[in-house]
Amino acid sequence: MAIQRVGIVGGGQMGGGVAEVTARSGLATVVREVSPEAAERSRSGIERSLGRALDRGKIDEATHQAILDNLTFTTELSDLSDCDLVVEAVIESFDLKAEIFAELDAIVTSPDAILATNTSSIPIIDIAMATDRPDHVVGLHFFNPAPVMALVEVIPSVRTDPSVTEQVTAFATDVLGKTVVAAKDRAGFVVNMLLVPYLLGAMRMFEDGHATAEDIDTGMTLGAGHPMGPLTLSDLIGLDTMLLVGETLQAEYGDPAYAPPALLRRMVAGGHLGRKTGRGFYDYS
Ligand code: CAA
Repeated sequence: MAIQRVGIVGGGQMGGGVAEVTARSGLATVVREVSPEAAERSRSGIERSLGRALDRGKIDEATHQAILDNLTFTTELSDLSDCDLVVEAVIESFDLKAEIFAELDAIVTSPDAILATNTSSIPIIDIAMATDRPDHVVGLHFFNPAPVMALVEVIPSVRTDPSVTEQVTAFATDVLGKTVVAAKDRAGFVVNMLLVPYLLGAMRMFEDGHATAEDIDTGMTLGAGHPMGPLTLSDLIGLDTMLLVGETLQAEYGDPAYAPPALLRRMVAGGHLGRKTGRGFYDYS
């Protein structure tokens, strides 16, 4: 089965980015959001990103229009019924993801369709078992910003059919142009298992008054050659996501390096979620 029509559940920062990637790859892409307002925000976010690419001469007018034509937005999950691949990219809540996968299982008609989750940390098997087709459920983990970051992690669960893993790997590589690393179904997969303790460590240093946010970030950009410092990157990922991923890793491994610092909890409680709310370790207003 060729993947021609892609459904994205959740058109936020990650889902919108993934939708841009699939639409740019010439695939009919339908994005499902929870309300018309959220769907409109998702559409305008993708349009802004494509507009930048057009202004910078990365794509021409005809390509820009063709990509926009590949995209539709809906509030109805049933509009994803004829998709060959669905990528779920809602917040890191197991209950919400389980509910969505159970609904997708009932809605998506083709028995060959692949149901993928972009979760950063929730076990793929737990999500798969919310469906009656766990052999067709797989982890497909993109990185933020998805249109720019070259990597995708492919994570089969113990129930994923090996042909499904092969198919999404080939799809991510040949159709989306990404580089794939394969990971086991363990919290954090490859990248977050290494990245998250580093980012949480930077927050602890800041919390302890070890150095200013600017100096911690400058230290890692200029001293270690990272494109962004850890606090800037945490703001980009979203501090709510950082908290949830840290909690999941901590629950799985019990290692204090994964324990979210109190400051992170307080910032999330106070609505300082990073770039998306205009305030995190830095002020974006
Ligand atoms: N959407 C689409 N394109 C974007 C974009 C976005 N949100 N942000 C930047 N870009 C594009 C720009 O348009 C530009 O494109 P061109 O070169 O084609 O003109 C290109 O990216 C570079 O952007 P800038 O020149 O504005 O800025 P930069 O050189 O500082 O790069 C960056 C920005 C790519 C984000 C870079 O800073 C970077 O790589 N940062 C690290 C990001 C990272 O580590 N992400 C992983 C987070 S972890 C994760 O996502 C997993 C998880 O589960 C938590």
